[in-house]
Amino acid sequence: MASKEIWLEKYRPRTLDEVQGNEDALIKLRTIAEEGNVPNMILVGPPGIGKTSSVLCLARTLLADVFDSCALEMNASDERGIDVVREKIKSFAQKKVNLKPGLHKIIILDEADSLTEGAQQALRMIISDFADTTRFVLSCNDSSKLIDAIQSRCAILRFTKLTDEQILRRLEEIVEKENIKIDKGGKEALLFTCEGDMRQAINNLQATYTAFKLVNKENVLKVCDVPNVEVLQQVIAECVNGNFHAAQKKLYPLWEEGYTAYDLVNNLYKLIQTQDMDKQLQYEFMREMAFLKMKVLEGLPTFLQISGYLAKISSIANSKK
Ligand SMILES: Nc1ncnc2c1ncn2[C@@H]1O[C@H](COP(=O)(O)OP(=O)(O)OP(=O)(O)O)[C@@H](O)[C@H]1O
Ligand SMILES: [Mg+2]
Repeated sequence: MASKEIWLEKYRPRTLDEVQGNEDALIKLRTIAEEGNVPNMILVGPPGIGKTSSVLCLARTLLADVFDSCALEMNASDERGIDVVREKIKSFAQKKVNLKPGLHKIIILDEADSLTEGAQQALRMIISDFADTTRFVLSCNDSSKLIDAIQSRCAILRFTKLTDEQILRRLEEIVEKENIKIDKGGKEALLFTCEGDMRQAINNLQATYTAFKLVNKENVLKVCDVPNVEVLQQVIAECVNGNFHAAQKKLYPLWEEGYTAYDLVNNLYKLIQTQDMDKQLQYEFMREMAFLKMKVLEGLPTFLQISGYLAKISSIANSKK
């Protein structure tokens, strides 16, 4: 049954033209696809934005009918352990294959930043030893975790979060093909919750559709377990009016419902960014939010910290009246 398929896989781009966003990186990949000579590369960027998909498209274009035997995709953080991964990489690199001149085998190594330093040193040797026959494409969220010796052997391609328009374009294609009932609020809620991550957006679309059949704001937020957005907007509005106590009183029930400080801070942050309010005040709210985020991430995820933030921004708002 169609709805049982995982849409992430069903709608994984098959060609580079289907990949949304990150035009600069994609232009480079398209050029490589035309010229055929894949350099060793590191694709860096946040999760769920098309790094692995893009390199799979590139490999499929170049290798075509020998893709299955000449491309290897693996995850470096695989539970089988780095020794197995290393053996697998090495034996694949050693494997003799018949490729047209100018083409190389391609090893795609996801989450390369999770490799230990020792494993990276070993990988560096393999990259050098098999340069004639095999090219490596590493993908990671944080390239600073890769040793310099690997970074200097690779071209670095940077990917960034996708914009709302880029995500929406793909979602709308899926909505049409799957014949999904969705309204404007549903789309907005999907964009709000995915934070530029296409994987999240598609996953949340499918989860909401599977659970409720109708994709509207309420159902998306239920599936994603987001704290009530209206309440959070009221909290911000109270702060804009300088009413700290009212803001705190409105926020507390969400805390009691079990939302973590991280949930609340993260969603307040997103809402403040898009709130229709005085620009100077918005800037101050965001600036203070940066301090609050730091405290929460550094290990003070308490309601007291959030209350402190609400008090501070309410007092800033009052001082500007
Ligand atoms: N730019 C994009 N265009 C179209 N679909 C995308 C895009 N990015 C992600 N997707 C969808 O999300 C899924 C996950 O994408 P992908 O595996 O390429 O992400 P990634 O950037 O490699 O993430 P990670 O850092 O977690 O490995 C894909 O199967 C595809 O359905
Ligand atoms: Mg990936």
